[in-house]
Amino acid sequence: MKIAVYPGSFDPITKGHLDMIERATKIFDKVIVCVMVNSSKNYLFTCEERVELIKDVLSGIENVEVDFYDGLLIDYVRMRNTNIIVKGLRAFLDFEYEFQMALTNKHLDNEIETFFMITSNKHSYLSSTLVKELVKYQGDVSDFLPKNVEKAIQKKYEEGCMK
Ligand code: PNS
Repeated sequence: MKIAVYPGSFDPITKGHLDMIERATKIFDKVIVCVMVNSSKNYLFTCEERVELIKDVLSGIENVEVDFYDGLLIDYVRMRNTNIIVKGLRAFLDFEYEFQMALTNKHLDNEIETFFMITSNKHSYLSSTLVKELVKYQGDVSDFLPKNVEKAIQKKYEEGCMK
């Protein structure tokens, strides 16, 4: 059984992530979406909130699991008895950063393989950071976010969390 871990901050999950997860579930037997900590980021949503939003978005997909782990990605991957990481690559934006992470993970554990999937054209510029910026100034994000996530982020705005 080929199990892939799809790690990320997902603050919040966007339609770009969703597209990637849907495509990955058609390639791997099981995809574990793991909410993790990127120590260079400050998060709008708590881990629990991010996990709940993702679970809600993915409720219709069978071979997917949502989890949270605060630690090294390679430790989590090994814990789940696999060696496969799957990540999305947007045109121009991600290469250096993802290359660095993939090689570091490979250095730490040579058995680990990172598979990159190219984002769909319509999501190639989309990011959670961009979406948060739009919501902060009340721009329309309906094309970028699943409905439940759009509601949740609007609530954060109304609670004054996005100043
Ligand atoms: O969505 P992001 O913020 O680009 O995801 C980055 C993430 C969370 C996958 C990365 O920071 C990560 O793997 N964090 C876990 C800690 C770790 O293993 N760091 C070393 C990576 S080389």
